Amino acid sequence: MSLYETIFTRRSVRQYDKATLDTASLAEIQNYVGGVKQLPGHFAKFEIVDSAKLKGGIAPYAILACADDNDAALANIGYTLQCVDLWLQSVGYGSVWCGMAAPKEPEPDYKILLGFGRTAVPPRIGEDDFKRKKISDISDTDNTVAHAVRVAPSAVNFQPWKLSFADGKVTVEANVRGIGKLLPGRLFLFDIGIALRHVELALQHEGKIVTTFTVHGKGKDLSVEVEYT
Ligand SMILES: Cc1cc2nc3c(=O)[nH]c(=O)nc-3n(C[C@H](O)[C@H](O)[C@H](O)COP(=O)(O)O)c2cc1C
Repeated sequence: MSLYETIFTRRSVRQYDKATLDTASLAEIQNYVGGVKQLPGHFAKFEIVDSAKLKGGIAPYAILACADDNDAALANIGYTLQCVDLWLQSVGYGSVWCGMAAPKEPEPDYKILLGFGRTAVPPRIGEDDFKRKKISDISDTDNTVAHAVRVAPSAVNFQPWKLSFADGKVTVEANVRGIGKLLPGRLFLFDIGIALRHVELALQHEGKIVTTFTVHGKGKDLSVEVEYT
């Protein structure tokens, strides 16, 4: 299954088959993670660990993400690890973003982790199987890109994004007013990056090529312009 198709079948997996993964499977995953394209100018680091090294872990394994402490760096982790989330589920593993878990031993620059392992639950059947906001609540246009972003994972399923479309350009804006104040910390910044990955995969599905990502503002005023041809 392609990454684009997996957007509509993935889920946060919280039930796992506890059997360990063999060294070759873990090496294949590490290799995939190392090859994923990051946002231009970003160089987050990713490390696979066993859940025994975590507090609050949900899955048997995790990919720890470490990066600088700025808003664009957190969005980049969202963008990068969401590709891994989709790939893992496209090849039959389960995965789940974990904002509430952390390594037991302090890791410098640690920001968030993606848990994974052998899934014990089936994938979703399709778009109707997602509990999400209406397209009109997150986008000024009803199109392929908006449908792909609508089903993206987000911390506490808050879906803190607003999309707008212009010729050759999609803008993803943070939308964390009101109840968004209840979102712990800066988790919504990962969500913005996750949305960017879904934007890019949907554009590629339509035969477009993304040329630039331009970050504007910060915190609750963050927005990212995605240009394509
Ligand atoms: C940045 C981020 C942090 C998350 N943290 C947790 C977490 O700590 N525990 C958990 O069970 N789910 C966590 N989730 C998963 C969300 O709850 C989930 O994506 C959302 O409810 C939508 O469900 P779905 O992923 O099955 O479509 C997180 C998701 C994101 C994107």
